[in-house]
Amino acid sequence: MSEGAAKKEEKPRKFQAIRGTRDLLPPETALWNRVEQAAHEVFATFGFGEIRPPIFEATELFARSVGSETDIVSKEMYTFVDRSEKLEPQPVIGSMDVFLQRVKQLYKSGEIPHDEIGLELVEKQWQKVDDLLKGASSIESGAIEIYELIMLFEALRLGGDVSLRPEATASVCRAYIEHGMQSLPAPVKLYYMGPMFRRERPQKGRYRQFYQIGAEVLGGSDAPAIDAEVIEMVMMFFDRLELQGVQLDINSIGDRNCRPKYIELLRAELLKVKDKLGPDSQRRIETNPLRVLDSKLESEQGIIAKLPRIADHLCEECAAHYAAVRHQLEMRGVIYRENWRLVRGLDYYMRTTFEITAQGLGSQNAVCGGGRYDGLVELLGGPPTKGIGFAIGEDRLILSLQESGKGAVAIGRDVYIAWMGERAHATAIRAAKDLRKAGFSVELPPVEQKFGKALGQADKLGAKYALILGDNEVSEGLWTLKTLADGSQTKFTEPDLLEYLRKQKALSS
Ligand code: HAM
Repeated sequence: MSEGAAKKEEKPRKFQAIRGTRDLLPPETALWNRVEQAAHEVFATFGFGEIRPPIFEATELFARSVGSETDIVSKEMYTFVDRSEKLEPQPVIGSMDVFLQRVKQLYKSGEIPHDEIGLELVEKQWQKVDDLLKGASSIESGAIEIYELIMLFEALRLGGDVSLRPEATASVCRAYIEHGMQSLPAPVKLYYMGPMFRRERPQKGRYRQFYQIGAEVLGGSDAPAIDAEVIEMVMMFFDRLELQGVQLDINSIGDRNCRPKYIELLRAELLKVKDKLGPDSQRRIETNPLRVLDSKLESEQGIIAKLPRIADHLCEECAAHYAAVRHQLEMRGVIYRENWRLVRGLDYYMRTTFEITAQGLGSQNAVCGGGRYDGLVELLGGPPTKGIGFAIGEDRLILSLQESGKGAVAIGRDVYIAWMGERAHATAIRAAKDLRKAGFSVELPPVEQKFGKALGQADKLGAKYALILGDNEVSEGLWTLKTLADGSQTKFTEPDLLEYLRKQKALSS
């Protein structure tokens, strides 16, 4: 069969976006751009600079920071081995040295990671392999040992274990260490925006590829004013977007001093009521009792309400810090609600935690989450560093703006050029260039159309004006501008037209 015939017989397959992912399309993308532009502007007024970390990182980075027992790391990450080669042992003992040389090469180039397994197998065993190989073709027992080693080598991982980022705080801390940012004037204030990946059950406001806009403050101080200013910044951003029904919840979850004692107390209390709890909460009594407080299960609400509250068990320093954060928020006029059940689902938090909900989101109503994570940079091998930050779910933010009627963006064109005739076409091309240079959006039809059809098209595209260019207009040097909203028409010389449009734009903005 010829190649062409084979192609014809292949059934065309319709592809669809992977479950939990979606295309963001115009005109909605204009709203995304407006939101992102507002973030750039508001965050800059607080002295934040943008960081763009990679979309995938070593899996270990997320396991260490977010926590290997959390849902995000244990169930939801997209993880793969970043492998570019295959290592295949040779079937004949005599040609084994080719395979072994390849192992050595790959180890040298870094394709086989220089981690504990790589070190053990390649560096420590190498001498033994070399010795064995010399006598292998004649000594049977040597051959068996070589085969055993080959099997071990086969177990070598080629390339690192990497994951699509489920969040970006870990990446920002990694970058802070990698680039020695502790030597910059403190605190270092960074923000980011971009896609994150979690394999969650998709529903309204919950996707497997979703977008966050986040910010982190890293440095030597844990002054409560820093916590309050970070929160003030998000609230100003939401205010600027006119996000509706904004509700800020705050809490303190203590530190290494007081939290373990509280968790023990909570565990003991939970054990007393274990039988009345659902299976998820029963499991969490052992794995992470704090997360029981997160439960939305109706039948558990009465029980949870009677549990000991962390606010009553904070150590002196944490209690003072929490009180000062509240005071600092009040000084900034930020309205908050204390929520002792706000524990958050990531391991790195300590002391201040907060969450913001907004209107129109149904059950997935958290539009922003954040908190303090002193010690995370240290945990990742960096210097002692304090940190606090947040991430906004951009998909949810957009959804809430749309649902409350605050998501409108100007669509359409400023000018649709309706031209007829060869000479008019040349003039139309020049007019389009000049208008675009002056910042107007222009639609220039590629083929001639009757004026009636062109005007209908201009209407459909939501154009404000139609510029009519026919033979008469071109020879008179007077162009007709039709305002589509009211149908009025005026004639302008070329420079007057530009001036008029400029004035109208200034008036409407
Ligand atoms: P998070 O609470 O896991 O925190 O996520 C922050 C926000 O991202 C959530 O409040 C929600 O709006 C949005 N989000 C999370 N998962 C999804 C999803 N599957 N679909 C749509 N939106 C989602 C963090 O990620 C921390 N890194 C925040 C942080 C920064 N804490 C300190 N610094």
